[in-house]
Amino acid sequence: EEIEEGFIASYWEYFLDGTLITLLISASAVFFGLILGSLLALMRLSKVFLLKPLATAYVEFVRGTPLLIQVMFIYFASGMFFNLPALTAGIIAVSLNSGAYIAEIIRSGINSVNKGQDEAARSLGMSKNDSMRYIVFPQALKNIWPALGNEFITIIKESSIVSVIGVGELIFQTRVVRSISFQGILPLFITMLIYFALTFSLTKLLNFYEGRMNHD
Ligand code: ARG
Repeated sequence: EEIEEGFIASYWEYFLDGTLITLLISASAVFFGLILGSLLALMRLSKVFLLKPLATAYVEFVRGTPLLIQVMFIYFASGMFFNLPALTAGIIAVSLNSGAYIAEIIRSGINSVNKGQDEAARSLGMSKNDSMRYIVFPQALKNIWPALGNEFITIIKESSIVSVIGVGELIFQTRVVRSISFQGILPLFITMLIYFALTFSLTKLLNFYEGRMNHD
């Protein structure tokens, strides 16, 4: 046990740094992804020429290619023109990725609202926009909100992919600790516990708010 106490005392800062970077990337990606995803969802609802197919193509392409290569592409392709820090490139890539998934979350949230809700609103004389804004969307939020929480959890885990471009998030730091401590397994185990602590507490938090939303 003494070895393990010494281990934590020696390397805790690596784990803390990695955890903070992982949370920074994830929170930023869900924030920017929400803006992008809302835009894409609006484009897909719009009747303006080309907006809908463009948004659909973006969502399909991003969801149909691995995040791994998207991260590498953003980092190395942008590097031909200017020098983006790896962390910035990583946040951009994960945000662009998450935006596509969030667009789908918003779309299916809206689709999940019974058509009769819109029809009733329209038959009472509401405009299409007002029906969407005051009747359909507020009900859609009930499905969108928990799905966004799940996206955040997914991103916490998947953002480890940015370690390939050298961003010092949790998995990157774990590799560093493995090599400088000559401990092959313990760092992996500690990192699993950290990820689990993050995702499990988020799940609990989400369940709590979901429960409250269903009571009012
Ligand atoms: N592993 C998948 C990929 O590489 C996950 C992508 C990210 N998922 C997400 N919900 N944003 O394509």
